[in-house]
Amino acid sequence: MKPNNLIVANTVIAALAAVVVPNVNAQSAPAIPGYTMGQKSLAKAPYTLADLESLKKTLLLSDEDIRYLRMSKPILADQTEAILDVWYGFVASTPELVVYFKNNKTGAPDGAYLDAVRKRFGQWIVDTADANYDQAWLNYQYEIGLRHTKPKKNKTDKADSVPLVNFRYLSALTIPVTTTLKPFLAKKGASAADVEKMHAAWVKSVLMQTILWSHPYVKDGEF
Ligand code: HEM
Repeated sequence: MKPNNLIVANTVIAALAAVVVPNVNAQSAPAIPGYTMGQKSLAKAPYTLADLESLKKTLLLSDEDIRYLRMSKPILADQTEAILDVWYGFVASTPELVVYFKNNKTGAPDGAYLDAVRKRFGQWIVDTADANYDQAWLNYQYEIGLRHTKPKKNKTDKADSVPLVNFRYLSALTIPVTTTLKPFLAKKGASAADVEKMHAAWVKSVLMQTILWSHPYVKDGEF
């Protein structure tokens, strides 16, 4: 290439970069307040990757399940708002559950708190489908557990609400969450057999996460 052409080519590349770079930024997902997966500030989980493997083994969560979780990602990614409408509808219509979002002063559900958590819940749907079960993922599981319990509930969103979600409901919610997910898994033309397998993988993954989140409720050394 002649020097003049080189200058023209460089100018074109610079101009393209100026146009392309802001677009790339504009397209990247906006930061979700309080979502801290992968951040150095997070505590190291008190359970290890080896513990996680043993738990996966016990739950029969296999590599095939992980493939089915991945299959669910593009199916669910553009349905998260509709899924959250159903899940939030269930919590809102279940007095035993909505109480965990109540504002201590008014006694009514705290809309701002519900909205703030909802954004991270949407991200969690994609994270569950996409999980690579590494140390950063494990540390965020511990963090989610802390956020359901006395050490950290309410802190992320500066909510004035009850101090913890009672332990007995945590794993129980796996059933409504995964049962109501099934119709969404079936909405994009996957075969009935694939829908069953994606659903089974989701049940195992959500149950496993609620077990990891349970750590703060368990006496030292007994988890
Ligand atoms: C399958 C069971 C459950 C799943 C999948 C789930 C999922 C989540 C997720 C993804 C978050 C946001 C985590 C983050 O900050 O990144 C969250 C927070 C929260 N969840 Fe759950 N949850 C479950 C059980 C429950 C139950 C039974 C309740 C009782 C109503 C509950 C109440 C809350 C509350 C109040 C927060 C906000 C905690 C805070 O102050 O930061 N969760 N949950």
